[in-house]
Amino acid sequence: MSHKVLVWDAPTRTFHWLQALSFLGAYLTAESEKHRDIHILCGFILFGLIVFRVLWGFVGTRHARFSSFLFKPGEVITYLRALLRGQAAQFVGHNPLGSIAIWLLLGLGLVLSITGIMLLQDDVSDVVVTLHGYATNAMLVVIGMHLAGVLVSSVLHKEKLVPAMLHGHKSAHPDHAIESAYPAIALIMLVAVAVFAYWYLH
Ligand code: HEM
Repeated sequence: MSHKVLVWDAPTRTFHWLQALSFLGAYLTAESEKHRDIHILCGFILFGLIVFRVLWGFVGTRHARFSSFLFKPGEVITYLRALLRGQAAQFVGHNPLGSIAIWLLLGLGLVLSITGIMLLQDDVSDVVVTLHGYATNAMLVVIGMHLAGVLVSSVLHKEKLVPAMLHGHKSAHPDHAIESAYPAIALIMLVAVAVFAYWYLH
């Protein structure tokens, strides 16, 4: 029997939307000399968020842990075949195909922010400039795939995945529920980002 159960903790949800916003902010200001400080600020925030997410992937709640969405290639292929037949199994956390986009988004976010921070130094190698540009384009492609995957999965399983990333709840067996949303950690994240942004811009 399905109930509304808590699946995504508050730090994971806060990470997700702050990460999406910081990428968008950095992307929209990338070409502007006037908004260079916003571009750099978004890059630092993205870096900090991903460092947090990596730690949370080891110590966080059940569905946020890396071990819960580290699938073997065979599992991804089985899922893909079932998906093409319109019979993909439903996952409470990240599904095998979606998890590939998530690993890529986290990895590319790191490459993007680290190369961006390196670009703040004088005399930086052209390789770093090129890598920063390639990582941006790759990120756009993977975000497109991520959004398509969320849409397909939502339609196929008649699930509201996007609202679930906001309020944290999904229809699932109570055995899949996490014990706490850890709102205090999410609040600390929000305050840390706000204080850092204020300090950086003043
Ligand atoms: C309006 C735009 C977006 C929507 C609607 C959206 C929606 C979602 C949803 C529904 C999930 C959960 C997927 C699942 O149930 O398995 C998710 C996860 C994720 N999304 Fe997005 N997303 C958006 C933009 C982005 C962007 C721009 C990025 C990267 C810069 C991103 C990176 C991720 C990551 C890394 C996860 C995994 C969350 C975690 O476990 O920490 N998303 N997204």
